[in-house]
Amino acid sequence: MKVLGISAYYHDSAAAIIVDGKVLYAVQEERFSRIKNDDSFPEEAIKFCLKESGISLKEIDAIAFYDKPFLKFERLLETYYAFSPKGFKSFAKAMPVWLKEKLFIKQLLKKRLKALSEGDKSLKFNIVFPEHHLSHIASAFYTSPFKRSAFLTVDGVGEWTTTSFGIASAEKGIEILGEIQFPDSLGLFYSSFTYYLGFEVNKGEYKMMGLAPYSNLDSERALKFIKIIKEKLIDIKRDGSIKLNKNYFEYPVGLRMVNPKKWHKLFGFKKREPNENLVQIHADLAFAAQKVSEEILVKMITHIKQLTNETNLCLAGGVALNCVANSVIYSQNIFNDIYIQPAAGDAGGALGAALITNYLQSNLLFSGLTQPFDNYLGPYFSNIEIERTLKQNKCSYTYYESTEELLSITANYIANKKVVGWFNGRAEFGPRALGNRSILADASDPNMQSVLNLKIKFRESFRPFAPVVCQEDYGAYFEPGKQSYYMLFTNQIKESLRLKLPSNFNELSLEEKRNIPKSILPAITHVDFSARVQVVNKDLNPRFWNLIQAYKKITGNGVIINTSFNVKDEPIVNSPEDAYKCFKSTGMDVLIMENYIILK
Ligand SMILES: [Fe+2]
Repeated sequence: MKVLGISAYYHDSAAAIIVDGKVLYAVQEERFSRIKNDDSFPEEAIKFCLKESGISLKEIDAIAFYDKPFLKFERLLETYYAFSPKGFKSFAKAMPVWLKEKLFIKQLLKKRLKALSEGDKSLKFNIVFPEHHLSHIASAFYTSPFKRSAFLTVDGVGEWTTTSFGIASAEKGIEILGEIQFPDSLGLFYSSFTYYLGFEVNKGEYKMMGLAPYSNLDSERALKFIKIIKEKLIDIKRDGSIKLNKNYFEYPVGLRMVNPKKWHKLFGFKKREPNENLVQIHADLAFAAQKVSEEILVKMITHIKQLTNETNLCLAGGVALNCVANSVIYSQNIFNDIYIQPAAGDAGGALGAALITNYLQSNLLFSGLTQPFDNYLGPYFSNIEIERTLKQNKCSYTYYESTEELLSITANYIANKKVVGWFNGRAEFGPRALGNRSILADASDPNMQSVLNLKIKFRESFRPFAPVVCQEDYGAYFEPGKQSYYMLFTNQIKESLRLKLPSNFNELSLEEKRNIPKSILPAITHVDFSARVQVVNKDLNPRFWNLIQAYKKITGNGVIINTSFNVKDEPIVNSPEDAYKCFKSTGMDVLIMENYIILK
């Protein structure tokens, strides 16, 4: 059975194609359109999936859209009705779009798909609409190593659902045992703090997560904030279900997440504007919101364990991209193992919608993947295509026939503190670059964090970079924990590699805290000694694995910085042209594309 999955019209549009349960291609539209989190119809992503798989639209058995538009519309109408006359402004803004376009998504999809098939009028489409959270959980379970598993999905909101949990198994498929519905939403609760702290909603949540470790439980103010949040903003039940105090949140009907005046009164400081300096009080609130979210998640997980008695857990939805919370959940040992599909947010809905449709409409039984899920599902460019781009740009380059030689030269550049653009193989599906569209640099250099931030990424300086380590070497650098191939968990730097912090560390400013080296790998060690590690599996990405080994041979160190190949707020590079442009416009020293090396 051939299924095309689509997510679109909210954020992170994407397409995926699967054949008989096997995922062949998946990619986000933003990679082609170059618009970050592009939410439009994923025309280029669909074209890519069809072209590369050699499957025409005529041959597709089902097209699966990742949520039910009518249910979503019902939610909007009922919410506006319940809150009226509040929110009329946002009602007036949203309705014309819904009435004209979104409500009639089936027609809209048909129209757009017909245009892709060059006007073939005989074409009939079997379009199905699995529910949003069903798409989320399917994207996790059907790419997991488990034959059966408990699951939890948490995001902002789908149609009505904001959280769902239950059991997924080969025999019975996905059984939902419980849900939390809009407007009570852990995802939107978290995004409300993202908003108040001056980061962009749906985009800046990971920045707030990165800010949180600048505070800790020794901070009286952070403890006070936790108390205020639990007393005034959210009621947390024993089973992890939540009720938000609607007096403080405006997202159900407003054009903003919260009422800044009320929050100012509550927390004693004004909403931070996007370009305003970050100071300790911001970190204290970020930390408090993170802690409360973790407490809720642990309560939910405990409840799910009691209810299902399953051994394994699948997590999905945007909240499952919170790698700090994921690690807290893992550390509770409530479940033996946890699996998260790397595109856990709405882009992954395209994949999940296709997978659930496949398993519902065919006799296929899922029995758990025997190999790690391969999420290198995007575009690939050959040496010939790369050379064409380089010639068009009239730049000088060197071609290396021997991959071994190329890897050794690349490793030497990294060891010599050069910043290397690394463009190989198929692009990753999901928000993280995992060694095919990456920028690599030396993690032991105390200046590297600043160099990368100022010359290449142009991003906020408070977050450290993520490290990569070969699976075999993990234990030499990090404390025991969940090893993730997809950077979905954090791990603690080994105690023996840490440096002693000054006794007045907690009193220092954010900038001072950042500048003090915390370990022998300062560029990747956060203020709480954590790191968002990508563990590289030799079978999953042999070329990357060999490069890290080549670097280790030279330096004796097996950890490298891996950050996504893009500049701040731009999508990760997709084509050789994108990579070359990024290389030219930043302070990057070397660009490696397949077997080509380009120098500045
Ligand atoms: Fe979602």
